Amino acid sequence: MKINFTLNHQPVSIDVPAGITLLRMLRDYLGVTGPKEGCGVGECGACSVLLDGLLVDSCLVLAPQVEGREVVTIEGIRAPDGGPNDLQKNFIKYGAVQCGICIPGMVLAGEALLARTLHPSREEIRDALTGNLCRCTGYQQIVDAIEATALERSRLQEQQKV
Ligand code: FES
Ligand code: FES
Repeated sequence: MKINFTLNHQPVSIDVPAGITLLRMLRDYLGVTGPKEGCGVGECGACSVLLDGLLVDSCLVLAPQVEGREVVTIEGIRAPDGGPNDLQKNFIKYGAVQCGICIPGMVLAGEALLARTLHPSREEIRDALTGNLCRCTGYQQIVDAIEATALERSRLQEQQKV
């Protein structure tokens, strides 16, 4: 069946079997490999994407469910110059990346949180990451990177108000 949706700010129209997941459509039909297949059953968050701004496990979403909607993967998160954005730079700066499998989902979870608030407590950051498992970092550095980005963005927002 034909599915029309917005992927990383570009319109997409593609024919896929009706029963496949969003994760399969992204990876196998569109070559978008940022979302990873970990558990395949909604436990790990490696396949996370933003669907209309909300963090979802793309392994649990059927492809036809995104008809007319907006999907953002890690490929759609970048600075205006095309390089890593402030959150991605802070993941690097704070040593929040090891094997990298969880990182696309972690960055998207961070972006989903920062779109809701630029003043999250560390507990709120941890809560926002509960659906995203990392077996490498121990989470501390990931929380540090998101917290630092929240502070930087809130300062920037304050400066822009002046
Ligand atoms: S692969 Fe989707 S939650 Fe693990
Ligand atoms: S960096 Fe390896 S699973 Fe998170």
